[in-house]
Amino acid sequence: MSSYIITPPAEVKGTVEISGSKNAALPIITAALLPDGATTLTRVPHLSDTKFMQEIISILGHDCSWDDNQMTIIPASRPITDPPMELMSKLRASFLIMGPVLAKYGHIRIPYPGGCKIGARPIDLHLKGFSAMGAELCQGHGYVEATCNHLEGADIYLDFPSVGATENLMMAACLARGITNIENAAAEPEILDLAEFLMQCGAEIEGAGSDRITITGTDHLSPCQYEIIPDRIEAGTFLAIAAAAHGHLDIQNIRPAHLKPMTAKLEEMGVNLTIEEKSIEIDASAPLSAVDIKTLPYPGFPTDLQPQMTALLSLSKGTGIVVETIFENRFMHIPELVRMGANIKVDGRTAVIDGVSGLTGAEVRATDLRAGAALTIAALSANDATEIIDIEHIERGYENFPEKLNKIGISVYKK
Ligand code: UD1
Repeated sequence: MSSYIITPPAEVKGTVEISGSKNAALPIITAALLPDGATTLTRVPHLSDTKFMQEIISILGHDCSWDDNQMTIIPASRPITDPPMELMSKLRASFLIMGPVLAKYGHIRIPYPGGCKIGARPIDLHLKGFSAMGAELCQGHGYVEATCNHLEGADIYLDFPSVGATENLMMAACLARGITNIENAAAEPEILDLAEFLMQCGAEIEGAGSDRITITGTDHLSPCQYEIIPDRIEAGTFLAIAAAAHGHLDIQNIRPAHLKPMTAKLEEMGVNLTIEEKSIEIDASAPLSAVDIKTLPYPGFPTDLQPQMTALLSLSKGTGIVVETIFENRFMHIPELVRMGANIKVDGRTAVIDGVSGLTGAEVRATDLRAGAALTIAALSANDATEIIDIEHIERGYENFPEKLNKIGISVYKK
């Protein structure tokens, strides 16, 4: 078990280059199984999650190689279609192979994803969609098996705009016979990026990025070369880092439009932002004022930035209220923040945060990926060093995190 020891910085200043998006890369790596031939993806971040996905694809018999941030995937003609439990359970997003593998090879037997610390995270919406497209589903102890001769286009209404279900069904629909409509679809930028990739491979998709997506199936997709979009959650985390440290950062290689829910809140808090086409300069010298946050599907405030914002509100003037509507158990960072001196009360899915003038360095645990990011933010204004344990969670989603922090004046020592 490794940890980061973070010393409160004297000054946070400099330039941060944002990596490719984890949540866009994971579905696009699985979508690369749909075309026949070699697909090359660039700007794929080196993270434990993307490495697990590479292992899963490889163990099924496909060719998946990685050179720097470029990944090349060559689908096998007769792959294995029942991935092993131990590998699949390491990554919830592993379930995203179901759509492409079922649509292309007509069979998949996949371990049912277990519970997850931030919530139960069921897959009922994915399965209802595959069933509507004509797949025969058999659910056994701990696994789901799906077969089809050919998927058929269908009208699918999602009870909730699930990101994973929208992606899985959109990928499957590309090789189905006829037209599929996904209503109440998720509209996250990562959905649009997946659709852009699929369309470059020859898929016919309309409406991605809205709540109704129409896919006209085809028999065959062709491989292409594609660059993954920048990671909006990593960029939002560095904005929160600059704000917490009252620093000055130039955050580069991003799409500022994807960060609107975060930048709007930061400006309300008194942070000065200069937004350009592909970068944001943040000057956070003024004191921060509290705001209220409610997490919602895109374009609402992202749940993946809620823990970081909760840490920031702990250091702001006044009282802020955070309501988490996406996951039922996404306040696990709060007891750790309280151990560092934050003043937060939780009632169900609502947290009430009274800002304090500073926090205390302590040993704290990263219970999940974004909780780890929140503790890093809290550590910046502590009176002493903070040790964050279980940083494996942080390394699931932040490429070269200690190196990027060191470069902007934050001393991080990995133990
Ligand atoms: C994706 C992101 C994750 C982000 C989340 C919400 C990836 C790899 N992960 O996760 O970082 O926090 O979107 O923006 O892209 N649900 C059901 N039934 C289903 C599917 C989902 O009830 O079949 C519920 C979940 O329990 C959860 C909510 O819908 O409460 C949102 O889940 P979903 O949008 O599917 O998130 P993921 O795709 O798992």
